[in-house]
Amino acid sequence: MRDNLPAPCTRPCRSSPRTASGIAAVLLAVLCGGCDSGPSSSTTEQQAALRGKALMSQYQCGSCHAIPGVADARGVSAVSLEGFARRSYIGGRLPNRPSTLEAWIIDPHAQIAAANMPALAVSPEQARDMAAYLRTLK
Ligand code: HEC
Repeated sequence: MRDNLPAPCTRPCRSSPRTASGIAAVLLAVLCGGCDSGPSSSTTEQQAALRGKALMSQYQCGSCHAIPGVADARGVSAVSLEGFARRSYIGGRLPNRPSTLEAWIIDPHAQIAAANMPALAVSPEQARDMAAYLRTLK
């Protein structure tokens, strides 16, 4: 997938600064800045979200939740996750931040003892991907 990165980011970031003149070094710094915060990191986030979407179908989160875009996710026994990215709280109590969301998906009861959502043996990597998808539900 790295082949799909936008052209300015791939080569200049890898070339040795030893051969660069002063001006080229400045240019290099500007171009490399885009490598960390620009298109490549949002591409990574999009790929994580795509994996997360498939994982939520695989783990059948949709047997309880309605989740827009996830196959067969039309459950009604738990709150719909439509617009989840706009919510301030998870389970009405935890601040909706990436780290708390991932911890919630891995083990809801460790976050809120009285939670009704079961732990579904989701790994930290999978929880990160699912959280990335949930952040797209605006
Ligand atoms: C057996 C039913 C069930 C399954 C399966 C389930 N959940 Fe839940 N989930 C709940 C319930 C119930 C809540 C409400 C909070 C509570 O009391 O636990 C909840 C809450 C949530 C919330 C917080 C929503 C909010 O607005 O507060 C998220 C996010 C969430 N679940 C994600 C998932 C993901 C991702 C999966 C799949 C890995 C999943 N859930 C599977 C029952 C379920």
